[in-house]
Amino acid sequence: MASIGVDINLAKDHLEKGELVAVPTETVYGLAGNALNADAVARIFETKKRPSFDPLILHTDTIEKVRQFVVDIPEPLNILAETFWPGPLTLLLPRKKIIPDLVTSGLDTVAVRVPSHNLIRSLLSILDFPLAAPSANPFGYISPTRASHVNDQLGDQIPYILDGGDCEVGLESTIVGLEGDQVTVYRLGGLDIQSLEEVVGSVQVMAHSSSNPKSPGMLKSHYAPTKPFILGNLNDLINDYKEAGVEFAVLAYDQVFPNISSQFQIQLSPNGDSKEAAKNLFAAMRTLDSLDVSVILSELLPDHGLGRAVNDRLKRAAASN
Ligand code: TXA
Ligand code: MG
Repeated sequence: MASIGVDINLAKDHLEKGELVAVPTETVYGLAGNALNADAVARIFETKKRPSFDPLILHTDTIEKVRQFVVDIPEPLNILAETFWPGPLTLLLPRKKIIPDLVTSGLDTVAVRVPSHNLIRSLLSILDFPLAAPSANPFGYISPTRASHVNDQLGDQIPYILDGGDCEVGLESTIVGLEGDQVTVYRLGGLDIQSLEEVVGSVQVMAHSSSNPKSPGMLKSHYAPTKPFILGNLNDLINDYKEAGVEFAVLAYDQVFPNISSQFQIQLSPNGDSKEAAKNLFAAMRTLDSLDVSVILSELLPDHGLGRAVNDRLKRAAASN
């Protein structure tokens, strides 16, 4: 198993040797390597069993450093960067050749993000290279939001996990780029659409396609538990599955079901707060996935604020059934 701690100098030593370190961010934990070292980047793909056509996000700590890696930050993406970095926003920008092809899967844009979590910021500030970091989970599974999640799945493959506690946002970053002049969201995430639109006016959300994803985080089935995950009206679902005699667990938004033992139900936000639901979502999915039941029953949130991104993840989890 990996060592777990808060020693950024130890993390730096591993990274400088081309090894991988799991790092906390405000969204989810990342599996980080030196983005300018093609061997380290290759190791990220191997460790996650990630297909090489699925490009990685570059992480650094200042906009000035971002400019070393991209040709340009075109308006209005620049306004978004100035407004929301550091934070849960990833921008697709024209890349410079210094970025290895493997990071971008050969695309001419690179995905870049300046995260806000203090521990990764301290680490980035003492590194003289950016970090390539996908979410620190096996490809297709639920993203990790605490150090133990990473250790459970990748602990025997990496030397060190920087422990930054539970992720504040709990959903991956919102990925934004340009289609012509149109600001386009390629992945719904921890920064909601309304916040973007307050700064740059109306944005388009690009619907995913499983045949030709622009961004494989947009693959219809992704972020999925191993158990069948069923979405619908929870009262109806519970009746049906009880009647059929199937063992189930319930992932609810805010309602409590008095006839179901508390061990077999989780409320994402008892007060109906979509931000709190986002923060709790992935840990709750993991907990229910580990129970001795055959199926997880769940429901959508009201489709506004972060509810929209939570619903996106719930639908993708259900799509793998
Ligand atoms: O919050 C996050 O974004 C987390 C933390 C660790 O920063 N990272 C994360 O990375 O979610 P990952 O690799 O799990 O998802 C990155 C997504 C993938 O769906 C990938 O296809 C897309 O970003 N992506 C990366 N570079 C791209 C590019 N040049 N064009 C289009 N999509 C890109
Ligand atoms: Mg991921």
